[in-house]
Amino acid sequence: MKFDAPATTNPIDQLKVVGRPLNRIDGPYKTTGTAPYAYEHHEVPGDIAYGVVVGAGIAKGRIASMDTRAAQAAPGVLAVVTARNAGKLGKGKMNTAKLLGGPQIDHYHQAVALVVAQTFEQARAAAELVQVRYEAARGAFDLSAVKDGAKTPEPNENTGPTETSVGDFEGAYAAAPVQLDVTYTTPDQSHAMMEPHATLAVWNDDGALTVWTANQMIDWGVGDLARTLNMPKDKVRLISPFIGGGFGGKLFVRADAVLAALGARAAKRPVKVALQRPLIANNTTHRPATIQRIRLGAGKDGRLTAVAHESWSGDLPGGGPETAVNQTRLLYAGANRMTGMKLAVLDLPEGNAMRAPGEAPGMMALEVAMDEMAERLGMDPIAFRILNDTQVDPEKPSRPFTQRQLTQCLQQGAERFGWKARQARPGQQRDGRWLVGLGVAAAFRNNLLQTSGARVRLDTKGMLTVDTDMTDIGTGSYTILAQTAAETMGLPLERVTVRLGDSLLPVSCGSGGQWGAANSTAGVYAACMALRKQVAERLGVDAEQAQFVDGQVVAGGRTVPLTQAVADRELVAEDKIEYPKEFSEKAQQSTFGAHFVEVGVDMATCEVRVRRMLAVCAAGRILNPKTARSQVIGAMTMGVGAALMEDLALDKRRGFFVNHDLAAYEVPVHADIPHQEVVFLDETDPMSTPLKAKGVGELGICGVAAAVANAIYNATGVRVRDYPVTLDKLL
Ligand code: MOS
Repeated sequence: MKFDAPATTNPIDQLKVVGRPLNRIDGPYKTTGTAPYAYEHHEVPGDIAYGVVVGAGIAKGRIASMDTRAAQAAPGVLAVVTARNAGKLGKGKMNTAKLLGGPQIDHYHQAVALVVAQTFEQARAAAELVQVRYEAARGAFDLSAVKDGAKTPEPNENTGPTETSVGDFEGAYAAAPVQLDVTYTTPDQSHAMMEPHATLAVWNDDGALTVWTANQMIDWGVGDLARTLNMPKDKVRLISPFIGGGFGGKLFVRADAVLAALGARAAKRPVKVALQRPLIANNTTHRPATIQRIRLGAGKDGRLTAVAHESWSGDLPGGGPETAVNQTRLLYAGANRMTGMKLAVLDLPEGNAMRAPGEAPGMMALEVAMDEMAERLGMDPIAFRILNDTQVDPEKPSRPFTQRQLTQCLQQGAERFGWKARQARPGQQRDGRWLVGLGVAAAFRNNLLQTSGARVRLDTKGMLTVDTDMTDIGTGSYTILAQTAAETMGLPLERVTVRLGDSLLPVSCGSGGQWGAANSTAGVYAACMALRKQVAERLGVDAEQAQFVDGQVVAGGRTVPLTQAVADRELVAEDKIEYPKEFSEKAQQSTFGAHFVEVGVDMATCEVRVRRMLAVCAAGRILNPKTARSQVIGAMTMGVGAALMEDLALDKRRGFFVNHDLAAYEVPVHADIPHQEVVFLDETDPMSTPLKAKGVGELGICGVAAAVANAIYNATGVRVRDYPVTLDKLL
């Protein structure tokens, strides 16, 4: 189905199931421990063996020698896979460094061996016996040290343009009566998902490979696994029905999947590999650190006349930049503007997407700069933002936003949060030993359109099955897809079964970039509309006129049970949603919000406690307010982590992240998070999808950390521009 927006009426507008705050249909499986995650799957032919990964002990250089004899001879050991015996491997599109290193080492903890044994304990013990001698080379690890050598990378599909310029920024900035020129830094961050990267790999006799693996993007994963193992894509099956958190860390197949496949081939048995927790931070991807310079120029009236945002980040050779300037191209008006990204080569583990790549760290800088500028102008930070709101793309004024309710989000939030009580001058409000402050930030994240397919089957009993390779990374995909199918076919939710996360099913948009919900439901809608046509044909009614309600088809004065269409045989329909290219050229689709935070800062210790949080979001039709709210409160929690504690501590001499486990990489726990309130504004965007929905899972994190930092400033008068805002920076 080619989406022909603006489709003002469609069957989904009846809204009997979609839009309801339904519990997750997969909830009982998760709470009873019966949802099979990759490492828990065991129903395969043959005895499962276990693999343990050996990670490189240097960041850059080469393996001078490797002695695996002791490991090979250890009890229970079936195979030791290394680059020497793995055969020639190809490279996936998505990974920058090789997933099995040697002799060249690209980054610390790059996998150099997999030890496979009959039991996990035997594999772990034998892995200790692998002797590797390295020749270390000098590497570049510290972004600030190599910043000046950073270059503007070639733009590509992922980055978009890496430089933009409109009007005369330098001239307008120089002439501006009020100026701000500030630099912020954001640290390397780890996805720190609960479920480690894990895979069970099984080879069939005919040379086909099946992997159960924790992965957000099934079709990307199949492609990259096939490329890496030099085999045809149709010989690879990837199954990922449940995922214990991804946050972008599981967008791609990583070493666990490749090594489980190689280990299973070598051991001639199914092999399970869970990447050991202490390896994940350095072996997989992370959100790369940034240095961001923002310059704002405004008239005395508070109108921005000059806006510049430059960002520096690093990655392995061949990697890409963190696109931290993206939101600055779209968020505020201002006739003269420029943005630029610079990329330095760093020999750190691969930098890549983590929840709201680009905007999440970008908003950490921009929204503090907006706070600083408002203060310089003597304006309320909300009034300043509203004054500079725009309904058109500031870089291309001929392109309107399809929907943009930033001002409404700020206003509603201010009202609900009690913004009026905020003292403009910092350090004025006390509660016992606490200095109390309020902070605000805008939220912004783009809405990305992706092709997404599905197949639906209506069986002779009138039960509907939805098949798509879409994933549920804890987001609620099962539930919203069931809601969509139930709504479109006029069936109760109980009559719908959703099957996900299997490469045998039609290719979907997958879970990434907050595009999953809107696009995968649009794909299911398209398949259901194709099924409705078949039903109408069988019943001899006009498909355009027919209404599907409560298990009945109503058309031309007749009401017929839906099951009559499948009385003698089931009906199957498959389709996908596709968006015309002109869409994104003609108009800009984005999601907006406002984050409000109250903090207390201990006057003696400078300990920061978040006391209240509110997010107001305008993100298209909310398909399920309960799962959407869960997405946003999770994102707000992650935003608090980014503001106050998350930081991969870099050993600048040896080039690795030191705090590479959940004990030392700090994330918020329940005691760190107060009551969180989430409000969704009414918004249906006829330009987004047939369901008029957009993404919200990443909008929820964008701006949160800045709102926390702004609240800390309001409480204390201390402006910290280097995240995380730990108490030593406030003393
Ligand atoms: Mo998201 S960082 O694209 O999973």
